Amino acid sequence: MPIFKRKETTERILPTHIAIIMDGNGRWAKKRSLPRTAGHAAGSKNFKDIARYCNKIGLKYLTVYAFSTENWKRPKEEVDNIMKIFKEYLEDAKNFKDENIQVQFIGDRSVLDPEIQRLMKESEDASRDATGLHLNIAINYGGRDEIVHAVRSLINSNAKAEDITEEAISQNLYTASQPDPDFIIRPSGEYRLSNYLIWQSAYAEYWFSDILWPDFKPKDLEKAIDEYNRRNRRFGGV
Ligand code: FPP
Repeated sequence: MPIFKRKETTERILPTHIAIIMDGNGRWAKKRSLPRTAGHAAGSKNFKDIARYCNKIGLKYLTVYAFSTENWKRPKEEVDNIMKIFKEYLEDAKNFKDENIQVQFIGDRSVLDPEIQRLMKESEDASRDATGLHLNIAINYGGRDEIVHAVRSLINSNAKAEDITEEAISQNLYTASQPDPDFIIRPSGEYRLSNYLIWQSAYAEYWFSDILWPDFKPKDLEKAIDEYNRRNRRFGGV
């Protein structure tokens, strides 16, 4: 009696663009009786590990939420600490250059510290020719703010009412010419979008988990991607 082995025909599909809300740093620190700053430091380390892992598995686009337009409401000490961690990341060019990661910042950078703005530009310029992961870091980013910014750019370029199309708005967002995110991951037990990529995520799949961001490891990302593979994306069709 011949033994028929089932042929594995379905290969895992990697989303083209994954977006992550790096949430839960504060609670991670609190659980360990540490200051919130320790949570952000652990979150930053984890961000670097996950970005490196995404690059290794061949992901094309990763967008992370580092600081929102609403995060300025936090105590000044915490905001300063996040900016300090961000600056340290920028100063360490090997974070993107040696890794062949192309880094881009999305959000309104005009209000950031001039030295941070300079470092941001320097890292974008230095990594422009990288062929690996395209990493978007959202900093002073808000989805509504981004749409307002896009419409203003169109008006400033003398666009007529009929020129304001979905395509024209997409091409004036910070993510112009990039594919929309396919998969949005939010750990930490919160189930909201928090003004993140609200235009681009119209047809994205979502994945939520109770894991706090500093504890979110490559194996968790793999689980999320497995779940993505079980989704049936119809984009409004049948
Ligand atoms: C959300 O957790 C996290 C933030 C608002 C800041 C994220 C910043 C980093 C990971 C470090 C800097 C980034 C880079 C790119 C180097 P939360 O503070 O809201 O946590 P909670 O909900 O538990 O209080």
